[in-house]
Amino acid sequence: MKAVIPAAGFGTRFLPFTKSVPKELIPIVDKPVIQYVVEEAAESGIDDILIIISAGKESICQHFNPQFELEQRLESSGKKQLLDELRNIGRGVRIQYVYQQELDGLGGALRYAKSFAAGEPVAVLLGDNVTAGDQPVLSELLAVFREKQASVVAVEEVPREKVYKYGVIDGVSSDNYIYKLNGLVEKPAVEQAPSNLVVASRYVFTPEIFEELDRTPRGKNNEIQVTDAMRSLLKRQEMYAVKIKGRRFDAGDKLSFLLTTLEFALKRPEYREPLVDFFRKHS
Ligand code: UTP
Repeated sequence: MKAVIPAAGFGTRFLPFTKSVPKELIPIVDKPVIQYVVEEAAESGIDDILIIISAGKESICQHFNPQFELEQRLESSGKKQLLDELRNIGRGVRIQYVYQQELDGLGGALRYAKSFAAGEPVAVLLGDNVTAGDQPVLSELLAVFREKQASVVAVEEVPREKVYKYGVIDGVSSDNYIYKLNGLVEKPAVEQAPSNLVVASRYVFTPEIFEELDRTPRGKNNEIQVTDAMRSLLKRQEMYAVKIKGRRFDAGDKLSFLLTTLEFALKRPEYREPLVDFFRKHS
């Protein structure tokens, strides 16, 4: 299976940083968010990736291209571990890029993946969200896709009062893990939300999603909403949601980025103690 990583957005929630630097390159400790995303895809068995960028975000491509001069310098100064780390960026996957000409939303971005998907199902991973867990989150979705042969979306539970920020599913489940979808609604009012299960940045779509995206009119903010296309697809085909066992973190939001950084840093022995010390002193 191929994967698409949309990374063309303006990142207005992270201004002023995102004025000149893509939010997908925000570091979580020492690795850009999008590198975690590519690694999740590779660990899930994906070897062919399309990253959707926009003008000014070419540094994303640079991150995945080899930097021979730097490699030579690390080699001659004996920094073998760093050199290996650099050479491993994007290893095992073929990455290509396409420009989204007009930033008309995630749905608009995905339309650029139509010829890349070439009539086959495709995985989608948002380029500003990282996940963590015992197994890669995308691989959970792919397992369900193989079983059901239908589109699958990752969902997670959030406190009810926060559902208005997300795409929310209406679904039924016999095991509290796989949900058969009855409906989807984007950013509902809390009292109208069908559940507290929200779409969590990873999808696997059947190729018919592209027909629906082409037909979907622009909605809120003049953007093509993926939720609208998914709702139309649901009228034609069964769709499923997986309540992921892993966790996802939205690095495109400032507070969430800070918490994600702390969570990942606390897992690193060299940072754990100094951080715990710091919080003891400051709390
Ligand atoms: P967001 O929903 O976070 O939108 O995109 P955004 O415009 O980038 O950010 P804010 O809300 O203004 O802060 C989720 C993912 O989809 C990509 C983004 O780059 C991000 O990785 N995206 C979004 C596109 O590729 N194209 C778009 O037109 C919008």
